[in-house]
Amino acid sequence: MRQKRIKYVTIDLLKEHGVITEVKHLDLPKDKKVFLEIGSGKGQFITSLAKDHPDDFFIAMEVNKYVIYRILEKKLELKLDNLMIVLGDAKDLETYMLNHKIDQLYLNFSDPWPKTKHHKRRLTFPSFLRLYLKVLKPQAILQFRTDHLNLFLDSLEYMETYFDIMDVTYDLEPSTYMTEYEEKKRVLGPIYQLKGKVKQDDSKDI
Ligand SMILES: C[S@@+](CC[C@H](N)C(=O)[O-])C[C@H]1O[C@@H](n2cnc3c(N)ncnc32)[C@H](O)[C@@H]1O
Repeated sequence: MRQKRIKYVTIDLLKEHGVITEVKHLDLPKDKKVFLEIGSGKGQFITSLAKDHPDDFFIAMEVNKYVIYRILEKKLELKLDNLMIVLGDAKDLETYMLNHKIDQLYLNFSDPWPKTKHHKRRLTFPSFLRLYLKVLKPQAILQFRTDHLNLFLDSLEYMETYFDIMDVTYDLEPSTYMTEYEEKKRVLGPIYQLKGKVKQDDSKDI
């Protein structure tokens, strides 16, 4: 996501406002459903969900510190006590989630990495899916949305191995919860959505 450098945004400033900036075990509520979005961008999707579902707990994970500041602004404005912001990389998920499991994972408009030699960087690539299985509850759902047809079709293929596919939509209707990218991209063409539930056998001991 393109986001200019913001001079006053420092790790210390983010920390002061409760953003998790180190790779460590997250302290999450045991009695609540936990929803995670990886690559949250400016955070419109996850902050809207958190606002409308105060009894659930949400995590926004994003690797860019300037983009994450935009999520923080929304969290502070909406006073979202049920949203944790993590400045971090999906590759470290196992450490973050050592003591907890996720109920639902959202990947919205993940970078498409169109060149074959870069496919392994895609957040839906099999190596990432196997990592997600380690932190998802047995019945958990992964929801993936994109405007990039090739990424979508490849992701369907990747996901079929590890998830029971519940929904494949080639022209998603607008909804209450849309990311900044979705709002921009839907005027240019269709939005694709995939949903899958963890396959029982693959959820164990990977
Ligand atoms: C194309 S943007 C989409 C942002 C947002 N989901 C939206 O739809 O508006 C992809 C985002 O994923 C983040 N990202 C990419 N790889 C990541 C990773 N391994 N872990 C966490 N965030 C990542 C990028 O920094 C970027 O903000």
